[in-house]
Amino acid sequence: MSYKGLIFDLDGVIVDTAKYHYLAWKDLANELGIDFNEKDNERLKGVSRTRSFEIILEIGGRTMSDEEKEFYCAKKNDVYVGYINKLTKDEILPGVVEFLTHAREQGYKLALGSASKNAPLILDKLEITPLFDVLIDGTKVSKPKPDPEVFTRGADEMGFSYDECIVFEDALAGIEAAHNGGMKAVGIGLPENLPGAEIHIPGLFAMPIEEIVAKIG
Ligand code: BG6
Ligand code: MG
Repeated sequence: MSYKGLIFDLDGVIVDTAKYHYLAWKDLANELGIDFNEKDNERLKGVSRTRSFEIILEIGGRTMSDEEKEFYCAKKNDVYVGYINKLTKDEILPGVVEFLTHAREQGYKLALGSASKNAPLILDKLEITPLFDVLIDGTKVSKPKPDPEVFTRGADEMGFSYDECIVFEDALAGIEAAHNGGMKAVGIGLPENLPGAEIHIPGLFAMPIEEIVAKIG
């Protein structure tokens, strides 16, 4: 197969923002008297903001109206954006800039496929916006992963068919989303956490795109 487009998840692939999501959610959970720990936070990876809050409410055995949920999600986001505003390019995960730059030199088009509505701000703070040809974020899609919408839109905007694209993902829902869209998936993480991915690497530092393509076939 000749691949033309590479689509990258943001959180956990390009930058570790999960720790900031955790701090912001924990603040809010504590305010609401809900016990929330790092293990619970794993359940929120790759999940939309509203759904994340619903999971926290479920953990606390609480229910809320849609208006209340919206209020608290906005409050959490204010705290989260406070952390994001302090991000610098030092927090880009190892090997990311080299991988993306090399892939561009090899002729691939690159897209971001993230559930985060803060993705443009994060790329801006990391100073890597120009490395991407296409940006698909949480403001452009309505269906969360494992629905493939975030990735199929990325392929559509790059002008490639779905089987010409490879997805890079650290969340199980993201691997499933790639497959649901007819794309191959590179799992960033351990095989036991990301069953089904065509290949697993610990991070983008580990292998250049040529080697990945040779392995996934
Ligand atoms: C995903 C994260 O990338 O974006 C989730 O993995 C997060 O943890 C989601 O909830 C939505 O992010 P945001 O920035 O729009 O609240
Ligand atoms: Mg992720």
